[in-house]
Amino acid sequence: MNERPAHRSDTRPRGRPTTILVTAATGNTGRPIVTAPAARGAEVRALTRRPDTARFPDGVEVCDSAAPDFRDVDAVVLNMAALPQAPAPFLDAAKAAGVRRVVTVSALVAADGENGAEPESGSNAAIHLGLERAVEAAVPQWTHLRPGACASNAFQGAAQLAAGDVVRGPYARANTSPIHEADIADVAVRALLDDDLLGQALSMTGPEGLNMAEQVEILGRALERPLRFEGIGPEAAKQAMLSVHAWMKEAAVDSLLSYLAHSVGHCAPVTQEVPRVLGRPAPTFAQWAEDHADAFRR
Ligand SMILES: NC(=O)c1ccc[n+]([C@@H]2O[C@H](COP(=O)([O-])OP(=O)(O)OC[C@H]3O[C@@H](n4cnc5c(N)ncnc54)[C@H](OP(=O)(O)O)[C@@H]3O)[C@@H](O)[C@H]2O)c1
Repeated sequence: MNERPAHRSDTRPRGRPTTILVTAATGNTGRPIVTAPAARGAEVRALTRRPDTARFPDGVEVCDSAAPDFRDVDAVVLNMAALPQAPAPFLDAAKAAGVRRVVTVSALVAADGENGAEPESGSNAAIHLGLERAVEAAVPQWTHLRPGACASNAFQGAAQLAAGDVVRGPYARANTSPIHEADIADVAVRALLDDDLLGQALSMTGPEGLNMAEQVEILGRALERPLRFEGIGPEAAKQAMLSVHAWMKEAAVDSLLSYLAHSVGHCAPVTQEVPRVLGRPAPTFAQWAEDHADAFRR
């Protein structure tokens, strides 16, 4: 955990429920964040480019991300995926509307930029660190969530698995410690509604390191299919990533691939932030696969 000072005053009028604005609300990370705060009496406004067709649970207010409505918003979940251009205009508008708290969906690699050397321009680390700094400059209350590899990345293989038992990707032996999106959501809710995580940057991972081939085998056990991973070259992987992630520029994809290349033969980092904050163990990738098996069967 990295802790820096942040102001801790709450000017929200008494009696009104806390209102949370969630960017990238239809995404893998956004969906569970949208549903979680209601259990604590907070109201959620979900931003999407598709307000007419995106479906959310009853009680969630839907808002077009082209014209974010900051009225009465107490806290924002800010995800880079929904801001492929610079986040400055969004943060300026939030600040002008009086938003005081932002929970940033950042990334574990942002920590690379805190050890003295500035990360390489355009790299994944530089992009996420830049986002964190912009948030800190804009609002007095912030928490940065820094997930490592998301277990939901496995959905990228869903189309391939509809056609056969092979998932193709780069670096079969690259080790990551996949984190369940429910953990990101639960920590986000704590950061949105409580004050004890303010001013902290939380490096969050799943409970165990697994390489890509092992992750596909585990998914296969949940699906009761003999799945296997097949390696592709980094250039083919780069083109695939650029086509899927609109917000990622070439330099960011290059840095991600070089991170994976470096992870071959190295243990994946496993942190204790999820159990520390939530008071329960982080679920395994096998649990994630069980939770989402139906999504791969459709
Ligand atoms: N994947 C990982 O392993 C990993 C690791 C560390 C950190 N992260 C962080 O997590 C973020 C990804 O979050 P996620 O997994 O929830 O993403 P996601 O599932 O790809 O969802 C992103 C959402 O953003 C919206 N969006 C996509 N492209 C957009 C565009 N060009 N303009 C405006 N909105 C757009 C879409 O919603 P609508 O279509 O409804 O508007 C989409 O549902 C990354 O940006 C990174 O910062 C990811």
